[in-house]
Amino acid sequence: MTERVSVVGLGKLGLGLALSFAKAGLRTVGVDVRPEHVAELQRGRSPIVEPGYQETLSAVGASFTATTDMEDAIRETDVTFILTGTPSDASGRFSSRDVEAAAREAGRALRQIGKAHHLFVISSTLTPGTTERRVIPAIEETSGRRLNRGFAVCYDPDFVALGSVMHDFANPEVVVIGESSPEAGQRVAALHARIVQSRPAMSRMSIVSAEVAKVSLNAFITLKIAFANTVGNLCEAIPGADVDQITRAIGADRRISPHYFKGGLPFGGTCFPRDTHAFRAVCEEHGEDSSLMGAVAASNEWQHARLAATALSLAGPGARVAVLGLAFKGGTPVIEASAGARLAQALVQAGRAVTVYDRLAPIETQQALADGVHVARTAEEAMAGASVVVVTLTEPEYLKAVDAWRPGAPATVLDCWRALDGRTLDGLITRVAMGRGVKPADSGAMAA
Ligand SMILES: NC(=O)c1ccc[n+]([C@@H]2O[C@H](COP(=O)([O-])OP(=O)(O)OC[C@H]3O[C@@H](n4cnc5c(N)ncnc54)[C@H](O)[C@@H]3O)[C@@H](O)[C@H]2O)c1
Repeated sequence: MTERVSVVGLGKLGLGLALSFAKAGLRTVGVDVRPEHVAELQRGRSPIVEPGYQETLSAVGASFTATTDMEDAIRETDVTFILTGTPSDASGRFSSRDVEAAAREAGRALRQIGKAHHLFVISSTLTPGTTERRVIPAIEETSGRRLNRGFAVCYDPDFVALGSVMHDFANPEVVVIGESSPEAGQRVAALHARIVQSRPAMSRMSIVSAEVAKVSLNAFITLKIAFANTVGNLCEAIPGADVDQITRAIGADRRISPHYFKGGLPFGGTCFPRDTHAFRAVCEEHGEDSSLMGAVAASNEWQHARLAATALSLAGPGARVAVLGLAFKGGTPVIEASAGARLAQALVQAGRAVTVYDRLAPIETQQALADGVHVARTAEEAMAGASVVVVTLTEPEYLKAVDAWRPGAPATVLDCWRALDGRTLDGLITRVAMGRGVKPADSGAMAA
């Protein structure tokens, strides 16, 4: 059976999921509550900056349509994914307000249309237990039906990252499906099969297990990042030690694995910090020990402070500092909780003159960082007159610009990911590589 699919919530992820289905040839309807957002999509323009979105939107033609009308979506499709935002509340729990609102609206539409059956797939990140405690009852209440009698529900979390959303939907390593019935889970698995090019490990389970799996995966990754950063910090303190040599070597052990295992900057962005917090909150809610995730969060904070301290040690009072890269990772405009953004703020607070450059982040977002941050339109402009340049991302544009930079006076480049070739830099530049211990003989060139 070829399913027709709708996706409710055409945000950073939902739009990518909808486009992935349309690209695979499935008739796809996208629903969002923001009329201007939908209008932009109807004009064939992606309101979201993310690799592949605009190209796919232009290529899929009529396979994808966008609307604000939930009834249209429920009428014209067989399966509805709900992928609205779930911002964290003060306690760290995810707010399910928008997911519940979408579920209620979808249930109402189902009652109105009166079709025999519909499958709902919840994909937003939720605090474990929310689908069964709040989302399913919301659909039951407004549709007037009971679970598995007229509608079924799956929980299908996304393990994708901003900057590579389309790629990650097509090439997942794991797919986790929580199901209200085996038939519903089978249908969701078949839909994944339509869009994947990889051979993911597909695990089907109870809905609540899938919710716990989602927060556990990200929590574990942050643990791994924090560990690699701790090794990197240690290396800086031990002459001759090099974090890359170590993580490469021990990462070859399958029990560890080399992925997401590189000492460098603290984790940031829209998911990792809040998923760590959420995992901790869930442990506390159930009276279980949450100290592990507490330690990861504290270690990450330490890493932010350490970066600022390192930059300040290189840039004395009156120095001008350029920060190249504000996004929390390459390929995305999102600067939320990023190392670069936090660093720029810390430097301004410490009285340094700061110029930032990010090739994707909107100028207004960069300007909103802190009073006194100067936003440059090119990497070259950011570096002009700087005595210290901090390279927070390994994007080729930034690396090339630093490589070509002729400061005209002694300057220092803080190479957070050890991505620059110290030998090709201008003779007046001292390169400081994070995660490497400087031997006395190197100290002139600081581990170039
Ligand atoms: N951003 C990530 O990297 C990432 C990764 C994995 C999982 N997630 C999870 O995916 C979910 C979505 O995240 P996002 O970053 O795409 O959010 P987003 O804020 O970019 O998008 C949410 C969209 O939902 C729309 N919306 C809100 N209420 C609605 C309603 N009732 N009906 C229809 N549309 C509605 C909003 O207008 C918006 O366009 C979250 O739960 C998030 O935790 C995000």
